[in-house]
Amino acid sequence: MTLHSLLSLAVSGLCALILLGTQPHQALGSRQGSLGLTGDAVVAPPPGICAIAVTIHGYQCQEFDVTTDDGYILSVQRIPQSRAGAGGNNKQPVLLQHGVLVDGMTWILNSPDQSLAFILADNGFDVWISNIRGTRFSRRHVTLNPSDSEFWNWTWDDLVTHDLSSVIDFVFKQTGKKMDYVGHSMGTLIALASFSEGRQIDKVKSAALLSPIAYLSHMTTALGDVAAKAFLMEITKLIGFAEFNPSTVPVVNFLKALCAQSGVDCYDLLASFTGKNCCLNVSTIELFMKHEPQSTSTKNMVHLAQIVRDGILSKYDYGNPISNIVHYGQARPPIYNLSNIPRNFPLFMSYGGRDALSDVRDVGTLLDSLQLHDPNKLTVQYIKDYAHADFIMGVTAKDLVFNQMIAFFRNQK
Ligand SMILES: *[C@@H]1O[C@H](CO)[C@@H](O)[C@H](O)[C@H]1NC(C)=O
Ligand SMILES: *[C@@H]1O[C@H](CO)[C@@H](O)[C@H](O)[C@H]1NC(C)=O
Ligand SMILES: *[C@@H]1O[C@H](CO)[C@@H](O)[C@H](O)[C@H]1NC(C)=O
Repeated sequence: MTLHSLLSLAVSGLCALILLGTQPHQALGSRQGSLGLTGDAVVAPPPGICAIAVTIHGYQCQEFDVTTDDGYILSVQRIPQSRAGAGGNNKQPVLLQHGVLVDGMTWILNSPDQSLAFILADNGFDVWISNIRGTRFSRRHVTLNPSDSEFWNWTWDDLVTHDLSSVIDFVFKQTGKKMDYVGHSMGTLIALASFSEGRQIDKVKSAALLSPIAYLSHMTTALGDVAAKAFLMEITKLIGFAEFNPSTVPVVNFLKALCAQSGVDCYDLLASFTGKNCCLNVSTIELFMKHEPQSTSTKNMVHLAQIVRDGILSKYDYGNPISNIVHYGQARPPIYNLSNIPRNFPLFMSYGGRDALSDVRDVGTLLDSLQLHDPNKLTVQYIKDYAHADFIMGVTAKDLVFNQMIAFFRNQK
């Protein structure tokens, strides 16, 4: 196998499963035992992200639990200082929000001088890392258990109204300051949706959107179509509204069937799914494979597939007018109108020419919806050779993207 194909493969944990025939670790079970909720023997909690990937590099790190207003207990990390320990209490907070099927580990897989979380800390930021519900360290709820199907009854609408909202509130309360925000992939989607509803934007100073995703119509190619259709119809029959854990047998079988049915071999399918990343480090990919992919809900995958199908950004479609009326008081789900994002809100956007998920044409649609934005408050960067994962794990990302992002943050008053 060539290095290049290995790189491409590993980016999507999903297809890597099929192609390499490997099983990444099973997501760890919930830590409910340690909370005494299950009545089981009390087990020591497994080490969190701080212990696994931050303090080993010589940085201070704090673990927090943030309980959302609908009862999910999210794991949040804070890297309050540079490695040298340069202190001061007046640091600018920045919140990092990962994408779908991964968790906050993705920000710290490269060496400290290449990983965004560490680079920000070394540049004087107070760094906060979010981990959304269902991911390895956020599989907890005040009453529900991950084995309950109700635990997985949510989509990215809920990440907007509950997870993002609660984490932003928490960081704001802890620091007393408006934060900068960095989102990747679905982490951009939930921020745009939130800001378009005026939600939490008063607590955010500016936002950097890497591989922005709001429209997905051009995530065309074989996989876009086939996967989206499959998610809309078949997978819900197969595994119901439940956990979508890419490591489990039904999901692997589903993906294998998808590869066979689409008439596209899985290698091409993968390349068309994420794009060919130019600049990943093999050691980082190995680490990535050790820690990812992470679970999400099947309902969330269906909602993402609805964006592909509909070409517009709206709330979860319950599939028929009557159910939509029950939930929304209207036959069609309400749209998120991105033109409602305040025109003077500072936005930094970086997208890649080889990114098959955040397709150049879809980013064009996103930029159209922001065409009345104050030009002094919108910086758009295009990296010709970059695909989806290069924006967080690329060895050149510091030079090409992160330094510019930090300069942008510093320029906003
Ligand atoms: C899932 O949540 C929706 C509200 O978002 C609710 O109407 C529905 O009854 C829930 N479904 C189940 C199976 O609990
Ligand atoms: C790749 O990662 C390894 C392990 O962190 C590191 O030693 C090496 O310098 C990295 N290579 C590049 C090109 O950054
Ligand atoms: C979105 O909002 C803008 C103004 O904020 C309005 O002109 C436009 O008609 C809205 N679009 C839709 C589809 O409602």
